[in-house]
Amino acid sequence: AENRPLLVLTNRQPYSHRYTGDGIESTRSEGGLVTALDSVLQTTGGEWVAWGSAAADFDPSVVSADGELELPPDDPSYTLERVELDRRQVDDFYRGYSNQVLWPLFHSHIDRVNVEPTFWEGYREVNARFTDEIVDRDTSRIWVHDYHFLLVPEMLTDRISGQSRIVSFVHIPWPPAEIFDICPHSEQLLEGVLASDHVGFHTASYRENFLRCVERQFPASTVDRESGEIGHRSSETGTSTFVQPVGIYPDEVAARADSPSASASWRALSNQHGLCETPIVVGVDRLDYTKGITKRLDALASLWERHPEYREAFVYVQKATKSRSDIDEYRDYQHEVREQVHRLNDRFATDDWQPIVYIDESLPYEDILGLYRHADVGVVSSTRDGMNLVALEFVAASRGTESALVVSEFAGAAETLAPDALTVNPFDVEALGDAIVEAVTMPAPEKANRTATLQESVAGVSAGRWLEENLDRLLE
Ligand code: G6P
Repeated sequence: AENRPLLVLTNRQPYSHRYTGDGIESTRSEGGLVTALDSVLQTTGGEWVAWGSAAADFDPSVVSADGELELPPDDPSYTLERVELDRRQVDDFYRGYSNQVLWPLFHSHIDRVNVEPTFWEGYREVNARFTDEIVDRDTSRIWVHDYHFLLVPEMLTDRISGQSRIVSFVHIPWPPAEIFDICPHSEQLLEGVLASDHVGFHTASYRENFLRCVERQFPASTVDRESGEIGHRSSETGTSTFVQPVGIYPDEVAARADSPSASASWRALSNQHGLCETPIVVGVDRLDYTKGITKRLDALASLWERHPEYREAFVYVQKATKSRSDIDEYRDYQHEVREQVHRLNDRFATDDWQPIVYIDESLPYEDILGLYRHADVGVVSSTRDGMNLVALEFVAASRGTESALVVSEFAGAAETLAPDALTVNPFDVEALGDAIVEAVTMPAPEKANRTATLQESVAGVSAGRWLEENLDRLLE
């Protein structure tokens, strides 16, 4: 029985299909999570269940009648099962509960939490829909990912009674109990997750928060702080933190950052914006309020205001990717960031200097890696961030060069990268500006030392190791 295949559940799929002028195009997703899982399933084989969200995902020339296709396209080793959601389900489950309740709540942005009754109904309905999809499959290990499916472990357990091991991994922060309690469905969510045999978190403090939530919600449960074991009702749930964050493959990132296409694209970009002479500070973010982009821009404004001598000292390049654009909060944030960039450029530009270069068109992944590689400083200023792959990718892409990294102390990646990255509190706008200057003006020997240790830390953070640790839990 233990040889039955692995089943993975994520909201986002590893490949998507779109109509182009003359046919259908298949694109592999670049996100860290799905890239890492794609490679594990290529090794283990098995099944992957995810939302088919793109226009041509269910075209009969792409998937079978029940929504399945074999992947990867050129050398199939596992099956993707696409689940189709209707407009209302997408509104309530994805845009609604997942991204207007759980996302802001878990990132401690409580003022952005928007609890509407249909959101919760849609969340339950879609979790049940995915459970239906999984329940009859011949699998002994089910690996449930992220905040979209917190109810699935319980819904599954009710129907498969111990035939499969269920492991969950939460890729975003687990909030402190006092914040989690704000959620009107806190009890149901905890019951949902606790039905897993094992739950993984990125950092020790997220796990600690989870354990406290359980203690407060269910005083009759037993929580062992040392081992992380929870006894709740008649079942046991293990919890752990994965020292290795969901990963990146540092060798691959380094090679792609130094590829001819990455270099050519960098040359084009630097010619276009006259970036050759000045140090470059770079930020690459989804346009999401948790990334603290407006705070970063405030920090630059305050810096150039307080210290006119640092005007013209560097150019800040902001690569921004549109995200979740049909949610008002996100559209407003996109607008706010763009306006703020214009204001700063109007205010501080000189004849020879454009302070901020803003790129919001999409760039191939290679080109982004090239941008990391040629920048002198990378900045991550998330107000809260489960891990933050940008910080890790920035370091991996800079292999063989020297650069400095400023990272928010509230990003999970700070645990791996401190003390060689400059850690800052992004709410302290002056401190953030000062850290950027410190990075730009860092003396060469210090930069060389920090670069070397950062390279070592990131080389240890390989996706392969993260997967191995997770698979160990699955196979237990
Ligand atoms: C975070 C979440 C992922 C999610 C990603 C992009 O990293 O942990 O589960 O896929 O953001 O967001 P999106 O809503 O576009 O999937």
